[in-house]
Parts: sequence; C-alpha cells; structure tokens
Amino acid sequence: MNFHVLTLFPEMIRQGLHTSILGKAMERGCITLETTNIRDFAANKYNRVDDYPYGGGAGMVMEAEPVYRACKAVEETIGRPARTVYLTPQGRVLNQTIVEELAMEEDLILLCGHYEGIDERVLEEVVTDYISIGDYVLTGGELGAMVLIDAVSRFVPGVLSNEESSQFESLQDNLLEYPHYTRPEKWHGKTVPSVLLSGDHKKIEAWRYGQSLKRTRERRPDLMKNAVTVTCAYYAPEEKWQEILRQTTEEMTRYGTMLDIGRKKIRKQHNHFETEDFLLFAVPAVLPADSPLASWKEFFQSFRGTQTPAALILYGPSPQEDSQTAFAGIEQDTVYGADSRSSSTDCADVKPLDDPIGSIKKILQDKGFQILDICTHPESISERRRFLLGLREKIYQGIRS
Ligand SMILES: C[S@@+](CC[C@H](N)C(=O)[O-])C[C@H]1O[C@@H](n2cnc3c(N)ncnc32)[C@H](O)[C@@H]1O
Repeated sequence: MNFHVLTLFPEMIRQGLHTSILGKAMERGCITLETTNIRDFAANKYNRVDDYPYGGGAGMVMEAEPVYRACKAVEETIGRPARTVYLTPQGRVLNQTIVEELAMEEDLILLCGHYEGIDERVLEEVVTDYISIGDYVLTGGELGAMVLIDAVSRFVPGVLSNEESSQFESLQDNLLEYPHYTRPEKWHGKTVPSVLLSGDHKKIEAWRYGQSLKRTRERRPDLMKNAVTVTCAYYAPEEKWQEILRQTTEEMTRYGTMLDIGRKKIRKQHNHFETEDFLLFAVPAVLPADSPLASWKEFFQSFRGTQTPAALILYGPSPQEDSQTAFAGIEQDTVYGADSRSSSTDCADVKPLDDPIGSIKKILQDKGFQILDICTHPESISERRRFLLGLREKIYQGIRS
C-alpha cells in the first residue's frame, strides 16, 4: 500500500509516522509514505498558497491551482488516477468498515487542508472521498491523515507481526472487545477472572462474548442496536469448502455459529431466526447427485426467518479451479442444481438448474429471509472481502432502522 500525502507540513507527517510499527513496516517495504508539499506548486515567487475568501469572513482559503497541480503530479508518479481522500470535518466519519475498504487500494492520495479549508472547485475535480476523523474541528488535515494511515496500515499484510492480530478487534462486528489481563495474577488486590486461568477454551470464548456484549451495552449502546448474531447455514461435503466457509464466517464475526445442513439432525430441528440474527446461507452452485436431498426446498425446509437479514454464498464446483471459470455462466443461468427440470449432457451426475440464484433466493425469501447480497466466489479473498464489507456496511449502518 502506498500512501501519498499532499500537505503544507510534510515534516509533521513524516515525523509522526516513521516510528514504531509503521516505521518498521516502511523499512520492510510493506507500506510506503510519500509526502508532497503543496507549497512547491505555488504559482508566485512568495510561495503563497492561500488567499482571502470571496464574500468576506475570517480566515484564509487554500487556492485551487497549487492543490490541483500537486495532485496531478502525484497521480503522474502513480501512473493512473487513484482514490483521493480529502480529510475534512464535513466527511463520512471514519470507522472500521471504511478503514478495511480503503486497505484494499494499492495507492491512496490524502489531501490535508489548512486555514478555513480548500477552494471548493478543486475539491470537486480531484476528490473521490470526503472523510472526517470525528465530529470536532482540527487546525489541519495532517493529524487526520495520520490517523487514517495508521488504521488502514493495520490491514496491510505484513504490517503487524502476527497477521492474526489484525483479524479481529473492537468494532469489526459492532461489538467492543472483551477486557484483557496479563501477569501478575493478582495486582492491587484485584485478581484475574478465574475462567481465563481454566484452560477451557470454549468457556473462555463464551466468557469473552458475554463481556463483549456487556461492555458494548454499557459503553456504546448505539452500536448494540445494529449488532447481529451470525449463523452460517451451509452444505459443503468437501472439506476445502467447509474451511473456506468457516473462514468467511470468522471474517464476519468472532462469535458465529456453523450449522451443517448436510446433517439430518440440523435439518430436523427448528431453525428459527429473528431480526437480530444474520444468516449466511452457503450452498454449492452444483448440487452433487449423492447429496442427501433432491432439492433446495428440502434443504431449507426447517429454516424460518422473521424478515431476518441474510446473504447467499453460492460456491463453485472446486476451489482449485480457476476462479474466473469455476462459476462462469452463473449470470447466464447455466450452472447446475437439483431444482432443475432440464438436463445437461456435460454433467451426467448433476442436475442442471435454470436460475440457481433466483430459485434459492425465492425459497429463502418465502421463508422470511431478506437477502442482502450474493457471493459467487468465496474462494477469492478479495471478492469475499468486498462481499463482507458490503454486508457490514448494510448491517451496521442500520438495515433495521
Ligand atoms: C480549521 S479546518 C477547516 C474547517 C472548515 N472551515 C469547516 O468548517 O468545515 C482546517 C482543515 O483541517 C482539517 N480538519 C479539520 N477537522 C477535521 C476532522 N474532524 N477530520 C479530518 N480533517 C479535519 C481539514 O483538512 C480542514 O481543511
């Protein structure tokens, strides 16, 4: 990931970021940081880049032309237009979902304003995203850019020594993290909760989940109203797909439940869900001939929702296949499933389905599930990320409100 910061105070950015974890990440080349002084693009011999505001009023405004030229110079070094973020109190307030979404870019241009801000006309031409770091006003965009760079970098592979540690933190599933403890066991008369010393990982996870809920309710009740309990209801006879679906669920929530629809016991029990639940339905695009049931209807027989938000993962014949071709034709209605009435000469052991996405979606909708999105390439990390980020954006920005 390459960060390109346009600023009047490049030394502030460099000094702020060349230390600790980010400094080391730069040394290792996981991220690069390049600062451009907007003043170098001033069109006058005094290097002045600001002027009085039209219409009067206090303060100065940064001129359009130097900002435009600085931005174009950076774009030229990148070789193509890049996402350009203007740090401003008037933008979307930065959150973990935006951070993760920005981390998928290869280059990010960050524009820092100063004084009263920047001439609106250049913002209209160069800015793709307006981002605020909180509902307060800073003297300049530099601290905002540093906050954004720090948060985004945590999702760049190799920045954190242990990739796991960037996997799950507070806010990723709209919950605050549970409290942490380290040695000594007793400090100022306070002991570490005994469950953490038990070595029982199931109990520890349950305790942590309870603490997360308690803490979020107490400290951020606003988050709680959009929190969901995630269940992945899947049918995946092949282990490699089970693993991909487990990973997908874990990327969405730390506390998800996996329900194997392939198991008779699961199909026999009542699988009823509320609006606070979230269902990830994952089934193969090709229903194998040896599957225990003949149609998708039978698979979802025991499932009921109450306008329960859900998403559908329709995975392909084999994760080893080229992800470009494994699902080729889904849009053209040429994948196979057990609901179909027509047949295919190429796939003797599978039954073709005219429109698997449409059919499964309709079955689930009739059963009370609200399908928010569909993923057809869960084996592709970037596709999965995009899918999950989109879902999170919908859920946590309040589908229920
Ligand atoms: C004093 S502020 C200008 C505020 C502007 N007059 C307004 O009312 O929207 C100067 C610069 O600081 C940066 N800035 C201020 N508050 C910020 C915030 N909450 N998030 C990100 N950047 C901020 C912006 O780049 C802005 O151009």
